[in-house]
Amino acid sequence: MSSSRPQYHYGFANEFVSEDPRCPESLPKGQNNPQKCPFGLYAEQLSGTAFTAPRSENRRTWFYRIRPSVIHEPFVPVDAPHLTCDWNVVPPNPNQLRWKPFTLSKEESQKEINFVEGLRTLCGAGDPKVRHGIAVHIYVCNSSMNDCCVYNSDGDFLIVPQMGQLNVKTEFGPMKVSPNEICVIQQGMKFSISTIAAESRGYILEVYDSHFILPNLGPIGANGLANPRDFLTPQAFYEDIELGKDGNGRGLYTVYNKFQGSLFKAQQAHSPFDVVAWHGNYVPYKYDLSKFMVINAVQYDHADPSIFTVLTCPSNKPGTAIADFVIFPPRWSVQEHTFRPPYYHRNCMSEFMGLILGNYEAKEEGFLPGGASLHSMMTPHGPDAKCFEDASNAKLVPTRVADGTQAFMFESSLSLALTKWGAETCNKLDADYYKCWQPLRKHFVEK
Ligand SMILES: [Fe+2]
Repeated sequence: MSSSRPQYHYGFANEFVSEDPRCPESLPKGQNNPQKCPFGLYAEQLSGTAFTAPRSENRRTWFYRIRPSVIHEPFVPVDAPHLTCDWNVVPPNPNQLRWKPFTLSKEESQKEINFVEGLRTLCGAGDPKVRHGIAVHIYVCNSSMNDCCVYNSDGDFLIVPQMGQLNVKTEFGPMKVSPNEICVIQQGMKFSISTIAAESRGYILEVYDSHFILPNLGPIGANGLANPRDFLTPQAFYEDIELGKDGNGRGLYTVYNKFQGSLFKAQQAHSPFDVVAWHGNYVPYKYDLSKFMVINAVQYDHADPSIFTVLTCPSNKPGTAIADFVIFPPRWSVQEHTFRPPYYHRNCMSEFMGLILGNYEAKEEGFLPGGASLHSMMTPHGPDAKCFEDASNAKLVPTRVADGTQAFMFESSLSLALTKWGAETCNKLDADYYKCWQPLRKHFVEK
């Protein structure tokens, strides 16, 4: 890979055209599937929506690749007990939940664990078999995916690195994704992740229903929040690597597949990152969260946190998301005669939060980078006692908030259930979380 890689196309869900510059004219002209493709390539379509989806929603990409994807041996199950879509293993728990930063266990940290091996499902709802639901996964890994890749048949992954840059190889080309950036790898797209840091960690929102889109802006106008041109899609880059077969005739490259919530693997003799050219609008992409254009109240009160929505996966119910990806970026707080931290809240949606950097503005302590919280449907939540006291008495001058910080929320209209790993095995649940609100005292004085 040359030092100028990776290179990117700019824009969100554009009709992109991409050729590896080592093979100019490798995209067929004027048609998708010529009798013979340039350079002896194979044409292969990746469909991200039904063939007959409305034109405005239709997503597909044509690959021109050295070998078609179908050259692989049969899939066999992989033992991955912490990757699941079974939400009925532990009893429901409506409490406010908070997790300390996730780590590899002592035993795990003695081994090499790559991104796929380090995936753990924390909570979720729904069923990939009926393409309805979400899952929240945590990854912690200490090694790269060598001679293997993965694709997800169940839905799309929105990956939020918290620690360690991810070098993401995809069929479309490579991406580098650092903490405070995110990437989305949609259903069916093969990818492989290399890491540089001794330990890498992050959060994943998986949606089964549909794809992420940019939220409508309504009266905000044509610009603002996450601007389309700040989304980056990798440019075509191929490798032609034949690993061959072992003594038993098994290919030496492994393709992992998450299918109906379980992990499978198949062997083949070559790298699947052999796409020389592609065109289409069904693509992986990354986004730098520092580019988000923050909008909020400039006179009094708060805009609701939906004003911080980066991406949304809509449901069929107008205005109600299967899941929103929301951030709380550094910004000015200027509201007059206003309690400025987040308000106390009971929500008909589920709120899963994580922290990428710094300190979250509504909690004095305990919510740490690499940790998480879950405030389930109608479970009360809000600033802790110290935050309430401080903000109620603060001088209301224009103030920077959240500098050096990036908290985020996966907000879902589904009621999320914990997995056994989330409830027990990870051993990170903070049993004392509820105590942060206990010192809130009565201020009411009857006249
Ligand atoms: Fe809330």
